[in-house]
Amino acid sequence: MALKNTNPTQTKSWSELTTHFHQTKNKTLKELFNDDHQRKEHFSLEFDDLLVDFSKNRITKKTINLLVELAKEVDLKDAIEKQFSGAIINVTENREVLHTALRSNSDEPLLIDGKDIKPKIQSALRKIRAFSNKVISGKWKGYTGKSITDVVNIGIGGSDLGPDMIVESLKFYKNQLNTHFVSNVDGDHVSEIIKNLNPETTLFVIVSKTFTTQETISNAETIKNWFLKSATIFDIPKHFVAVSTNLEAVDNFGIDKSNVFPMWNWVGGRFSLWSAVGLSISLSVGFDHYRALLDGAEEMDLHFRNESFDKNIPVILALISIWYNNFYNAETEAILPYSQYLKKLPDYLQQAIMESNGKSVDRNGDKIEYQTGTIIWGSTGTNMQHAFMQLVHQGTKLIPADFIGYKESLYGLSDHHKKLMANYYGQIEALAFGKTKEEVHLELKTNGELDKVSQLLPFKVFEGNRPSNAILFDKLTPKSLGKLVAMYEHKIFAQGILWNIYSYDQFGVELGKELAKKLLKNE
Ligand code: F6P
Repeated sequence: MALKNTNPTQTKSWSELTTHFHQTKNKTLKELFNDDHQRKEHFSLEFDDLLVDFSKNRITKKTINLLVELAKEVDLKDAIEKQFSGAIINVTENREVLHTALRSNSDEPLLIDGKDIKPKIQSALRKIRAFSNKVISGKWKGYTGKSITDVVNIGIGGSDLGPDMIVESLKFYKNQLNTHFVSNVDGDHVSEIIKNLNPETTLFVIVSKTFTTQETISNAETIKNWFLKSATIFDIPKHFVAVSTNLEAVDNFGIDKSNVFPMWNWVGGRFSLWSAVGLSISLSVGFDHYRALLDGAEEMDLHFRNESFDKNIPVILALISIWYNNFYNAETEAILPYSQYLKKLPDYLQQAIMESNGKSVDRNGDKIEYQTGTIIWGSTGTNMQHAFMQLVHQGTKLIPADFIGYKESLYGLSDHHKKLMANYYGQIEALAFGKTKEEVHLELKTNGELDKVSQLLPFKVFEGNRPSNAILFDKLTPKSLGKLVAMYEHKIFAQGILWNIYSYDQFGVELGKELAKKLLKNE
């Protein structure tokens, strides 16, 4: 049942891709668009409310065909089936990888150790719904009989970034509760969060799979001590709940057993926002919106599992990314959402992508001789246009970029939205087609600045030919957000399979943690 181990660089398609790369690498996007006037239609994929236009990439139909062949040669299809059906594909941790089961609406049993996990998932969802309803409606009372006004999620990594990003992204849909996130072991972080909170009306959600993570437990203890300055240990159950697998540690902390939400070993931390780790999401926007988020993700799951590779959005995005990473030697990818709500998406994706695919040993345990995980960074448009886009347009590096946009805004300020989207398309076009010497010359002439040509011309040229994907949704909704996040999750997985690495472990985070512990002990 294990994943196949294929060194991608030893495949027939890889050597064909190498030849193809040398034959086509100098072809510009301008030329590609001149060659095919319907290039946009030929290199776009539509899936419900999502349109992915990947025409502004340095690829031809042949590139896609060869990349798809590569995916077939490494048997990506088999890997996808293994993941969805609960095979132990996280071999180094001896675990299944089943975040997709968390959002599945199908009744088909999914057996782990001979037991169907679907009823467990449904019961956790019911518990999340009942608890969220109680807190949001004000029926859940604090120790002085007041309703909850503030929720604080205490966690780090996957127990923080996912919920934090979704809560921020769905701010438009939020209710009266104020949601806060404490993660850093830096005491100033927790101090800043608690300084304006009222212990009588605040609910703390401690999210930690292990319940031993230094940052989370330090923050939880500090908050408990702060809470106990005005309340007693008997009040803890009304204000502290936990999402964890470590029931003993949770119990020692003083949290009531009935207020513990489950986590499972078959869900990795950075893929866990779909489990009870997303409790703060459900509290912030209500269970129905939370469920819609899951439903959107499930739609993408079905698309990824069933669609042929040439029409499969996460697969195509994964393959294009490999094309730049392994053939053009691009080292980074920019994530550029044109929605202020998505300002935390790049941070979230940094963990999801870099913790998953930042590996240099293959599935045979051998040192890898080719490039793997891309470096992810980004920020929202239009702010980033006034920050780092200079380098993306005119710098020396090739930086493939994902532009994420929405046809409609949420508050309906159409004048703003028109401007926002004009910038979205303007940036994509400028990157792809640039501005030639002749165009700069003509521009200076038109402006009556011909005398400046010799001095300014080279600086005002944009060479263009810089690739991007336009990822366009109708509207930012819980459902479309679920789809977007699941799209990236599957891109990560597909890339890990293609690079022949294990995407679901993260041993690289351990050594620094161990050394910090040693240093503390020796003090
Ligand atoms: O960063 C490493 C990591 O293990 C993540 O995978 C995980 O999301 C995070 O630490 C927090 O772990 P826990 O939920 O056990 O506190």
